[in-house]
Amino acid sequence: MRAALGDVVGAFCLVSLAAALDFRYHHTEELEAFLKEVRAAYPSLTHLHSIGRSVEGRDLWVLVLGRFPTHHKIGIPEFKYVANMHGDETVGREILLHLIDFLVTNYRRDPVVTRLLNNTRIHIMPTMNPDGFEATKVPDCYYSHGRYNKNGEDLNRNFPDAFENNNVTIQPETRAVMNWIKNETFVLSANLHGGALVASYTFDNGNSVTGSLKGYSRSPDDDVFIHLAKTYSFNHASMYRGTGCDNRQTFPEGITNGYSWYQLEGGMQDYNYVWGQCFEITLELSCCKYPPADQLEKFWRDNKVALIEYIKQVHLGIKGQVTDKNGNPIPNAIVEAKGRPHICPYRTNEHGEYFLLLLPGIYVINATVPGFKSMLKTVEITNNTDNFSALKYDFSFSEVSVRTRASSCPKTPLYQELEHASAAGKPTLHIFVLMTIMLVIFK
Ligand SMILES: *[C@@H]1O[C@H](CO)[C@@H](O)[C@H](O)[C@H]1NC(C)=O
Ligand SMILES: *[C@@H]1O[C@H](CO)[C@@H](O)[C@H](O)[C@H]1NC(C)=O
Ligand SMILES: *[C@@H]1O[C@H](CO)[C@@H](O)[C@H](O)[C@H]1NC(C)=O
Ligand SMILES: *[C@@H]1O[C@H](CO)[C@@H](O)[C@H](O)[C@H]1NC(C)=O
Ligand SMILES: *[C@@H]1O[C@H](CO)[C@@H](O)[C@H](O)[C@H]1NC(C)=O
Ligand SMILES: *[C@@H]1O[C@H](CO)[C@@H](O)[C@H](O)[C@H]1NC(C)=O
Ligand SMILES: [Zn+2]
Repeated sequence: MRAALGDVVGAFCLVSLAAALDFRYHHTEELEAFLKEVRAAYPSLTHLHSIGRSVEGRDLWVLVLGRFPTHHKIGIPEFKYVANMHGDETVGREILLHLIDFLVTNYRRDPVVTRLLNNTRIHIMPTMNPDGFEATKVPDCYYSHGRYNKNGEDLNRNFPDAFENNNVTIQPETRAVMNWIKNETFVLSANLHGGALVASYTFDNGNSVTGSLKGYSRSPDDDVFIHLAKTYSFNHASMYRGTGCDNRQTFPEGITNGYSWYQLEGGMQDYNYVWGQCFEITLELSCCKYPPADQLEKFWRDNKVALIEYIKQVHLGIKGQVTDKNGNPIPNAIVEAKGRPHICPYRTNEHGEYFLLLLPGIYVINATVPGFKSMLKTVEITNNTDNFSALKYDFSFSEVSVRTRASSCPKTPLYQELEHASAAGKPTLHIFVLMTIMLVIFK
């Protein structure tokens, strides 16, 4: 798989035209200057905005790329990459700048990049913790205080947690990302780190309901997450070998369930999946957290194909719109695949759109407008990731002519409630389904 996909991208990989981005670390001013240059040079392909500010007042820049960079278009899925949330883990920050350079310079040259940008809106945030990066003065392979934000908080422990009350003070950087996630219909994402070489997937936290007693915290979409993680590891130069960074820690096929590796609360990937309706994985890209700049070119080469192939996965599964009898979109309709209920049911956005990442197979899609009966549709999803579009299926509710009210998911630890209900011997449908899946499929 790796060689074949490598050839596809490699064959069209032309030399960058722009005043080539150099392989060195870009501090705040240089990073901003680069993003502004790209924005100015490719005005119809890019959009630059800041989603907030760090504790020390640095902008949290996001460059958006796509045929319609400034706004969402119905049917075009939203994708994001976020790097450097641990300020001392720096490889992701630089390779995302090279990814931007690669995408803009290959648009209308490389057919894969052209179709990708025509059919996907890609959001790139090179640094979520600019203060931590600036606080880390010299390259160093090991942990430093630059990991944290200026208030000394670990941003990857700073999100609401679905399993326990983690009682954190939400930091400005975290708040900005939470608002951003609420603002966009993100479907797929990855969060770039360093200090290991592995693709890790949700859940990072867990309880008996998700299988933690067996050392693995399984989401209802475990099959999809394993596919996503393997897409990255097998398209990476060496991650799939699973040798990790020393011989004590090995990761078969270069992937791991987050909880199996080590449990953590308040992580960003669980938050995206539970509250953001966005599948996110965590990519550990370098054994050395902050390697010398002369290794950056190799890191970019090792990750380039994987970064592109991973974005393509946003076109897995099925998507469409839910409309009423007058053809108006119905927001907040619940659309889920039968047998894989999300603890916060996934709902349509303001345009009545849904996106469900699913592997090839036969599924029953259940669309429900609360207060009305459900519509069920059996669909066969084929492997069409090279088509740059998920299968499309729209639901029309002929008896409905009202806009449903928004119903937000509670922010309390959701799975804790399930566990309590379970202990009290009153399993809800969710528990029943989750436990059934666990018994049947658990490794
Ligand atoms: C991409 O979109 C541009 C602008 O609409 C269009 O001219 C071009 O033909 C499209 N290319 C592909 C490969 O879809
Ligand atoms: C949450 O943290 C605050 C401040 O550290 C503390 O006063 C409070 O008791 C904590 N609440 C819970 C439920 O642990
Ligand atoms: C939210 O979306 C609106 C409209 O697209 C945009 O103007 C605003 O900057 C966005 N805010 C964030 C935090 O992404
Ligand atoms: C469809 O989804 C709704 C809302 O989640 C649920 O109440 C209903 O039981 C589901 N129907 C079937 C047949 O699974
Ligand atoms: C789709 O097919 C390609 C090439 O045959 C393969 O590499 C990829 O893993 C498949 N995707 C899924 C989701 O099965
Ligand atoms: C790919 O897309 C084209 C046009 O949208 C469609 O006709 C075709 O059936 C799709 N192929 C697959 C395998 O989904
Ligand atoms: Zn990290």
